[in-house]
Amino acid sequence: MSATHSPRSRCSGRRAPGCRRTAQSSRSACPEHQLRDEEDRLTEDELTSAAFLVLFAGYENTVNLLGNGLVALLTDPAALARARNGITPTTVDELLRFDPPPQLAIRRFPKEDVVIGGVTVPKGETVLLSLVSAHHDPDRFAAPERLDLDRTDNPHLAFGHGPHYCLGASLARVEAEIGLGTLLTRFPNVALAVPESELQWRGSFRNRGLRTLPVTL
Ligand code: HEM
Repeated sequence: MSATHSPRSRCSGRRAPGCRRTAQSSRSACPEHQLRDEEDRLTEDELTSAAFLVLFAGYENTVNLLGNGLVALLTDPAALARARNGITPTTVDELLRFDPPPQLAIRRFPKEDVVIGGVTVPKGETVLLSLVSAHHDPDRFAAPERLDLDRTDNPHLAFGHGPHYCLGASLARVEAEIGLGTLLTRFPNVALAVPESELQWRGSFRNRGLRTLPVTL
C-alpha cells in the first residue's frame, strides 16, 4: 500500500477543514488524508481489502493465539510449569504449531490444472490448505500431538509461507510473548474455571478461537 504520509506531513488523525474523505474513498481533496501516491498502484477494492486484512486478520488471529495458547498451557501441567520459567520465541512457535489460530490458509485457485498427490485439481477450483494437518504430520514433526515448549525443529506454517507470508508475524510473536508472559507472572494461580470439555469454541472451520475463556485468578 502506498501512502503520502511522510514524516514531514504526518497525518494528525483529525479531519481538516474541507476534507472530503469518506470511509469508502481513499482519494481525498485533503492532502493530509490521501492514501495513494501519484502512481495509483492499487485499485479501490485492493486498497480496501488490504486495510481490512491488516485490521481484522491481525486482530482476530492474535486474540486467538492468546486464547488457544493459554488453554494449551492450562490443560498441560508440565507445559504450564515450563512456561512459568518464561515465554520465549520457541514457546510461541510451539503454541502456534500446536493449535494454530488459522486452521486453513486463505483459499487458493490454480491458474491451470495441477496434480497434487495423484489428484488433479482443475483450473479455477477452490483449494483449501490445512495448516493444522501439516502441523500434526508425524512424518515432519516428532511426537506431533505433544506440546513440547522446547521444540526447536519447528517449521510450522501458522504465518503462511512464500510471498504472502504474514505481514504482522513479528508483531504477533512479541504480543504473545508479552501477553502470555505477563499473565503468568501477574496471576501465578490462573486456572480454567470450567472443565476443558465445557469451553465454548466459535463456529468457524477456518479460524479456531474461543467465545469466552473463563478462568480463576
Ligand atoms: C497470531 C497472529 C497471526 C497469525 C497466526 C497470522 C497468520 C497469517 C497467515 C497464515 C497468513 C497467510 C495466509 C495465506 O497465505 O493463506 C497471513 C497473512 C497476512 N497477515 Fe497475518 N497473522 C497474524 C497476525 C497478523 C497481524 C498482527 C497483522 C497485521 C498487523 C497481520 C497481517 C497480515 C497480512 C496483511 C497478511 C497478508 C500478507 C500478503 O498477502 O502478502 N497478521 N497471516
